[in-house]
Amino acid sequence: MKILVIGSGGREHALACKLAESPKVQTVFVAPGNGGTATDDRLQNLNIADPQALREWAASEKIALTVVGPEQPLAAGVVDTFRAHGMRIFGPTKAAAQLESSKAFSKAFMKRHGIPTAEYETFTDAASAHAYIDRMAAPIVVKADGLAAGKGVVVAMTLPEAHEAVDFMLEGNALGVVHNEGSDGVAVPRVVIEEFLAGEEASFIVLCDGKHVLPLATSQDHKRLLDGDHGPNTGGMGAYSPAPVVTPDVHGRAMREIILPTLAGMEKDGIPYTGFLYAGLMIDAQGHVKTLEFNCRMGDPETQPILMRLKSDLVDVMMAATSEKLDQVELQWDRRAALGVVLAAHGYPLNPRKGDVITGLPYSGQERRSAKRDGQDDVSVFHAGTVLRDGDIVSAGGRVLCVTALGDSVKLAQTKAYETVHRIQFDGMQYRKDIGHRGASKS
Ligand code: AMP
Ligand code: GLY
Repeated sequence: MKILVIGSGGREHALACKLAESPKVQTVFVAPGNGGTATDDRLQNLNIADPQALREWAASEKIALTVVGPEQPLAAGVVDTFRAHGMRIFGPTKAAAQLESSKAFSKAFMKRHGIPTAEYETFTDAASAHAYIDRMAAPIVVKADGLAAGKGVVVAMTLPEAHEAVDFMLEGNALGVVHNEGSDGVAVPRVVIEEFLAGEEASFIVLCDGKHVLPLATSQDHKRLLDGDHGPNTGGMGAYSPAPVVTPDVHGRAMREIILPTLAGMEKDGIPYTGFLYAGLMIDAQGHVKTLEFNCRMGDPETQPILMRLKSDLVDVMMAATSEKLDQVELQWDRRAALGVVLAAHGYPLNPRKGDVITGLPYSGQERRSAKRDGQDDVSVFHAGTVLRDGDIVSAGGRVLCVTALGDSVKLAQTKAYETVHRIQFDGMQYRKDIGHRGASKS
């Protein structure tokens, strides 16, 4: 079988590696891929971005299955394009992807279907947004309505910070948010301002085939740039799985109060959901669960530790998920914990520098295979913003690598991941030293 993975991040490298482990697979193509997928002999990079062109290429290559990693191609309708030609692809349609691509859509959806989330208002006009903030108390949260790679959210601890965020998002657009279009097809800058929720976050990701739902292992991300959860929000600086904060009781609530009503609501609204569905949860001290956000894809970096723990053949799982047979699948998990530390570029998140040569990487694709044969498969370095240039691996994006390790506890996985982190170097490399701090104290 030939498989196509769309995307270029650490999530896609992990998906491609896991799919390539299946004995059914001949080659996994990754479009466009990165320096890690370029140097793994089971994987092949493909330089096609346009969904229509990808679909034509996939048909001519007889690609049996396509898995979409990031939100942009989903929001652009790649699933609709492939399905219109009868091709097997796992992901939500363009309409269903609005659960992530439009905060205004997802907040209105949650309100309509009684799914627990923070109270909110939506604004296109800065004066009304400022007036609303003045009536509210801090802390308060300001979110750009549109895709912003996880960076369009400001948790304002003071009212002046909230005012500044509104100006920043509605006027300057320094974050490069891809604003959603209004009814006339023109992009409209819009913000959602919402109630601050206190508690501990977790990532709750499920597979949906349109009829059935299958939860993946739980995980927890670290969104802030700096140790101790300080500094600006990022796409995610590290993650681990499982997340002890998701107790069996919290798991049950998340399924009953959030996931199942969301899938039923989408069906009722005439937009049945297929693909990965990621609910960002806020869990309070009493174990009540609210939805912070939906993503229409797996998390990055959550995917890296989650897939290191998955023992089932991911190709079988994806085939079932694209034929309404998820009810026949039982996922097998490694009972160990996994933890991934992101190594980011100088200047990330606002202005990442590219072109720094990376040294000390543990293995290339071929070496990884021999390590696996020797039973040393408990550390993987997944590439994100890297390219292969003249034989060197060079940084090419904000989040550069995710060093991921398995261990008998979160603490042991943490120790093992950092041992490898300490061997890797590039100029300006930044990473958090405390990934897993919540889980390590509980497990
Ligand atoms: P989002 O992209 O909506 O998940 O927001 C990114 C991050 O901002 C979340 O992971 C939280 O850490 C934080 N955040 C978002 N909304 C809220 C909220 N209503 N209350 C507290 N923190 C929030
Ligand atoms: N790590 C958070 C996300 O993928 O949205």
